[in-house]
Amino acid sequence: MKTIVAKEEIAPQTYRYVIRHPKLARKRQAGQFVILRMHEGGERVPLTIVDSDPEAGTVTLIFQAVGHSTQELAELGVGDKLLDLAGPLGKPTHIENYGTVCVIGGGYGTAPVLPIATVFKQAGNRMFGIIGARTRDLVILEKELGEICDDLRVATDDGSYGVKGFVTDVLAQLLAEGNKIDFVLAVGPTPMMRAVSVLTKEEGIPCMVSLNPLMIDGTGMCGGCRVEVDGQTKFACVDGPEFDGHLVNYHLLMKRQGAYKHEENMALSVGSHCKIGLDD
Ligand code: NAD
Ligand code: FES
Repeated sequence: MKTIVAKEEIAPQTYRYVIRHPKLARKRQAGQFVILRMHEGGERVPLTIVDSDPEAGTVTLIFQAVGHSTQELAELGVGDKLLDLAGPLGKPTHIENYGTVCVIGGGYGTAPVLPIATVFKQAGNRMFGIIGARTRDLVILEKELGEICDDLRVATDDGSYGVKGFVTDVLAQLLAEGNKIDFVLAVGPTPMMRAVSVLTKEEGIPCMVSLNPLMIDGTGMCGGCRVEVDGQTKFACVDGPEFDGHLVNYHLLMKRQGAYKHEENMALSVGSHCKIGLDD
């Protein structure tokens, strides 16, 4: 059992949990994730590890209560226990000194960007950061990313804070200002990652994205997280979650991400757990 030792609502319906798990805190690397279960028979929820403290033996997770299971998770509090927290899963981020890196986070997809930005900075890169959110209240981790990035910009869809527009508008602006960017890392909604990939491809800038397809076992066995990259089938849980954004088949990814919308809506409306089939 893994105990929640701290809980904070960092934006509406968006929570930061610090969880005691000494082994995971020692082993995890940037870009890796966990799959948690609250109780026997519960859904398996994949979440990126945002931070860890090996001395305190804790890991930090950030999630938004958007579905049935994450809403159930949000009801827990300090002292409550999770049944299990499997990980670290997935390949760590490939880090090198590219020169100038721009990290881009969309909505609560900004959370996985924080550990990656940290290691890119440690590798000696000059750092641009872009955070995008629908509105001011939903901007997260601005302070934390501001401490890492040499230049951090915020965009909101409604213009309530920062630049009015999408993260791609800010990236285009950075390039129009004559900034040379050698590498882009983007995490957020799939349409955002697709748009960032299109722009960076046009500009000849390498781009990595962290994909979030449906995941079940997280070990490469069930095939639930399969994605097409460069015409080949890959499993995001073991081959990713990060892939070359220019080679991802986003059309297929979005189609598969929408496959269980009906079941998720059912689970939300009846407050019970719907099982995902593996035979799609
Ligand atoms: P959202 O829909 O509010 O969008 C956030 C921002 O993304 C927008 O403000 C905008 O700047 C940008 N954006 C959205 N659509 C765009 C488009 N078509 N073109 C350019 N920019 C666009 O985001 P949300 O509701 O907070 O959802 C966050 C997403 O991040 C979810 O889809 C979630 O699955 C994903 N996520 C991914 C991971 C991962 O590890 N891969 C982790 C957490 C969250
Ligand atoms: Fe089952 Fe990746 S989640 S293969």
